[in-house]
Amino acid sequence: MSMYDLTTHQTNGYIDLRSDTVTQPTESMRKAMYEAELGDDVYGEDPTVNRLQELSAQKLGKEAGLLVLSGTMGNLVCLLTHCGRGDEAIMGNRAHTFSSEQGAASGLGGIHPHTLPNQPDGTLDLRQIEAAIRGDNEHYPRTKLICIENTQNSTGGRVLSPAYMSAVGQIAKQHQISVHVDGARIFNAAVALGMDASALAADADSLTFCLSKGLACPLGSVVVGDEDFVHEARRNRKILGGGMRQAGIFAAAGIVALNEMVERLDDDHRNAKTLAEGLSVIPGMTIDPSIVETNIVYFELTAPKFTPGAFAARMKERGVLFSAGAARRIRLVTHYGIELHHITHTLRAFSQVLGEAA
Ligand SMILES: Cc1ncc(COP(=O)(O)O)c(C=O)c1O
Repeated sequence: MSMYDLTTHQTNGYIDLRSDTVTQPTESMRKAMYEAELGDDVYGEDPTVNRLQELSAQKLGKEAGLLVLSGTMGNLVCLLTHCGRGDEAIMGNRAHTFSSEQGAASGLGGIHPHTLPNQPDGTLDLRQIEAAIRGDNEHYPRTKLICIENTQNSTGGRVLSPAYMSAVGQIAKQHQISVHVDGARIFNAAVALGMDASALAADADSLTFCLSKGLACPLGSVVVGDEDFVHEARRNRKILGGGMRQAGIFAAAGIVALNEMVERLDDDHRNAKTLAEGLSVIPGMTIDPSIVETNIVYFELTAPKFTPGAFAARMKERGVLFSAGAARRIRLVTHYGIELHHITHTLRAFSQVLGEAA
């Protein structure tokens, strides 16, 4: 039994707000994994993987799907499929593909990132996208791709609307280039908008979504696109060492996730909002709760008494975990296993610790 009476899907005894990646698989996922029918997926013979890929494609309105090990692998497989060496991919300066994947697209693929500033709402300015697309000139790299992240993590889990996604798609079409969506949390965006995720993927040539974040699977992401794209993406997965054998053992959890875990993301969004509103009246930090649309909350630690690290250590003593580096802008993420009473406890702990600083 944990010190804060967390449910069994939270194992470390803390109210762990570091990320939605800490979620544990549900009972029905564990049962499905135990019972999964398996085969060799490099031969295309794992029936559970095949079912997950078909279900993923169907949910996103695409022809085909490809199971990969992580969001990073999914994004890289897609970028390698869209772009050759020296080709350029337009992406946000706060995009995960740019800032948090070790520069894999350039490091491994020779792909040249052309960054544009993410706006506070997570979007890239459409005029700036258009202006960034290169003309045909032997001095320039060739622009092949626009990469969009929805929800946009580092601007606060911001939701990009279907109208915006479609406007990006229009620009890409006009210039005969492609769109990749890093949809690690595309189902959070869809639930926040009250629409099917396929509406957000309609203008994308490829999309990666993660099973192992709010959907609570132990691992895995899925790439979706048309048959030809996925055929090529499968080759790139293999060259990265991502050809798997009896992968149905975890694909089974993914099927449960898509069928049972999407609607409940709304609870995470509600808890994030409650958390943000509660934080907004605590002295020693600043936060704008009106921009919290999904499960990610950022606040600025203004209390001069604490460094972010010291503050995180004091909160940990009170049973609340979050990541803190040098920056005073700190992220909290709600997820499966975090319930309203954990939010109440967290707010009380924040008040107490920052009260000491007053
Ligand atoms: C927006 C976004 N894209 C991609 C990833 C990469 O996912 P993974 O950790 O599975 O490689 C993350 C991980 O947090 C993310 O937030």
